[in-house]
Amino acid sequence: MSRKIWVFDTTLRDGEQVPGAKLNLYEKVEIAQQLKKLGVDIIEAGFPASSQGDFDAVKAVAERVGNTNDIMITALARAVQADIDSVYNAVKYAENPMIHMVLGTSDIHVEKKFNKSKDQILQIGVDAVKYAKTLMPQVQYSTEDASRSEFEYLWHTIESVMKAGATMINVPDTVGFAEPEEFGALIYKLNDRMKNLNPDVLLSVHCHNDLGMATANTLAAVKNGADKVECTINGIGERAGNAALEEVVMALKTRSSVYNVNTQINTKEIMNTSRLVSSFMGLDVQVNKAITGDNAFAHSSGIHQDGLLKSRDAYEIVHPEDVGLDDMELILTARSGRHAVKNALEKLGFTHMKPEEFEGIFEGFLLLADMKKEVYDHDLYIIVENYYEKHDQHNVTNYSDHFFEFEDLQVVSNSSFPSASVKIRKGEEVFKSSAVGTGPIDALYSAIAEITNIQVKLIGYDISSVSRGKDALGKVKITISHEGENYVAKAADTDILKASALAYINAINSVIVAGIKETTVKTPIVSI
Ligand code: KIV
Ligand code: ZN
Repeated sequence: MSRKIWVFDTTLRDGEQVPGAKLNLYEKVEIAQQLKKLGVDIIEAGFPASSQGDFDAVKAVAERVGNTNDIMITALARAVQADIDSVYNAVKYAENPMIHMVLGTSDIHVEKKFNKSKDQILQIGVDAVKYAKTLMPQVQYSTEDASRSEFEYLWHTIESVMKAGATMINVPDTVGFAEPEEFGALIYKLNDRMKNLNPDVLLSVHCHNDLGMATANTLAAVKNGADKVECTINGIGERAGNAALEEVVMALKTRSSVYNVNTQINTKEIMNTSRLVSSFMGLDVQVNKAITGDNAFAHSSGIHQDGLLKSRDAYEIVHPEDVGLDDMELILTARSGRHAVKNALEKLGFTHMKPEEFEGIFEGFLLLADMKKEVYDHDLYIIVENYYEKHDQHNVTNYSDHFFEFEDLQVVSNSSFPSASVKIRKGEEVFKSSAVGTGPIDALYSAIAEITNIQVKLIGYDISSVSRGKDALGKVKITISHEGENYVAKAADTDILKASALAYINAINSVIVAGIKETTVKTPIVSI
């Protein structure tokens, strides 16, 4: 039978240590609710001794999220009475609370950081556990910098704090120094001794990513007997971050024949959790990040797209649906091949093309793809229309009349009247509009909205730099909602205001494509 692995999420503590990622009470509770939905076993909600604000937020998480027995709420303390009291007073409202304390075991920590002897530090740890046990039954002890500690001293510390009543022992690779084989061997040895001493005490690991090995080290620990993994969403955390929960969980699931363990994570909630954390903390997820990056399920090479359309498992080891996404994404770029373009055209209703027609349209696609980074559905309509116009077949709807095309803009940014004027084309017609807004983007979008006249709500706006230097490309990604559906669109330009306008117009054109698709489901658009 497969062994249960406990998942301890420290997004709200180690993750919150990322500079600028501080959350308010409301945001912490919201993320904690989502972590509960995700199915984590333990939430580390913060470091209450650090500020009154964090104390209040941890307390709110304990009261509002820890109100059921299926989740444990903890928070971090140094091995000093005041910190332990602070954790106790914040987490005691949970049904299932725990005190987590940390104290170093490496020579660097003992001698240089604390300037004490090993025996003195060990005694402080034991006394702290004994004190915490007078307050509540569940106590976790973290041997900070364990991976750089002298083994027999590390073991002596663990043995002593277990005898003092610690119920979980956490072995951190605090500075991301460990290497998977070496860390696995360390965990194997500790697990062997711990299980002989008291099999009920859980062995946990907490790996940092300084050398990019946090996930690998965590998995090596699981293979060698660790009962519990400490992770964060999107791998955020101190410096290079922690082991990413989504990577560890999906590796354990996807390679279950290797690990033979299970977690109680509802993997379909992974994307929702990742997006919530990213937006509340203002931390973008690296586009190629495993599992939660924008491109994790997007296929762009023609060879791959062709293979996927023949059999998804050719290039897909995790199904996007399993982590809460709708489907794989085939991005049409200059590298896309015929198979992917044909598939996209068929989805739009172009189902009856003769081979020579498709070849002509594919040629048009390649021409446009060479000029644009990404080809959208509305671009495909126009390529098809251009093809048939050129070949004098006028039984095709005039699609360019349906879509908006950016021509020009002027934006004035000031604190009293941020305003924007835009010029947009629709087929042969050119429209101009001006608007004032709360800021330049608001003014710009109001001016465009006046022309497009499609009711949408802007629900997400992200801007990032694609390249460096003064010619850096600004990439804008927006999400709008229209009649209950969400539409995501992107655009990039050295002028970020132009990129913002293009992204908005791409999104509006996607709404129009959806409308066209709806009316053409029954009758193919082109039937020659
Ligand atoms: O990295 C670390 O050692 C920690 C401990 C508090 C577990 O974050
Ligand atoms: Zn840490």
